[in-house]
Amino acid sequence: MQKNKDVPVQPQSLIILRGVTKIYHQGLEEVKALRDVDLKIADGEFVAVTGKSGCGKSTLLHVIGGLENVSAGSIQFQGRDLSRFDDVQLTRYRRDQVGIVFQSFNLMPLLTIVENVALPQILRGTPSHEALRLAGEWLRRVNLTHRRNHKPHQVSGGEMQRAAIARALINRPALLLADEPTGNLDSTHAAQVLQLFAELHRQERLTVVMVTHALEAAQFADRTLKMQDGRLHP
Ligand SMILES: Nc1ncnc2c1ncn2[C@@H]1O[C@H](COP(=O)(O)OP(=O)(O)O)[C@@H](O)[C@H]1O
Ligand SMILES: [Mg+2]
Repeated sequence: MQKNKDVPVQPQSLIILRGVTKIYHQGLEEVKALRDVDLKIADGEFVAVTGKSGCGKSTLLHVIGGLENVSAGSIQFQGRDLSRFDDVQLTRYRRDQVGIVFQSFNLMPLLTIVENVALPQILRGTPSHEALRLAGEWLRRVNLTHRRNHKPHQVSGGEMQRAAIARALINRPALLLADEPTGNLDSTHAAQVLQLFAELHRQERLTVVMVTHALEAAQFADRTLKMQDGRLHP
């Protein structure tokens, strides 16, 4: 499979995690979801993360995406420490720099497909006619123009996920995080969705961190990392 042959040998790191630990408190119990994780992700890299249920994969994506803070250690994005971001900077980081795709699609059920895709632009303050025009372009990109005015429940799982990918990318983030994006899809739709990730990664020079199973990881990623009990192994 073709990779980015023209990527420089030592590309700059987009994300650097140093000694990241995440502890959840549940009543009196402590759950160490991440233990001393070090990770550098290069700009334009496609990294896959595999591992058993409960090993900390989603937590890893959440702390990178600024959805959760860390208990210890640091995360840098483009050389800036996420923990030093104020609320406004953090909101902008989540909205403009990071796109997230979930296993369960997380589309808004009452909005049409095109409105769902347009939403991140609306939240950014783009006038709605312009946001909808842009969403239409992204729908073309993910082959969903014919589903534009459908509601999520009226389309297939694969189509919902393609809409979710368009929504994740409409604000042109530097980083796309995907948490088992094919987990709810049959093999045909899963293959289409993975092809789409690979294509967008290549065409947009997008940095991708995807939690997935080993087979898909090997096929699409530049690098695969294994998580085990909150620790990350190369
Ligand atoms: N919000 C939370 N509160 C308490 N414990 C949590 C929370 N989120 C995750 N955990 C726990 O942290 C560990 C890692 O979870 P998670 O990152 O979801 O794993 P994975 O995505 O690999 O299945 C699990 O033991 C899980 O129960
Ligand atoms: Mg998970």
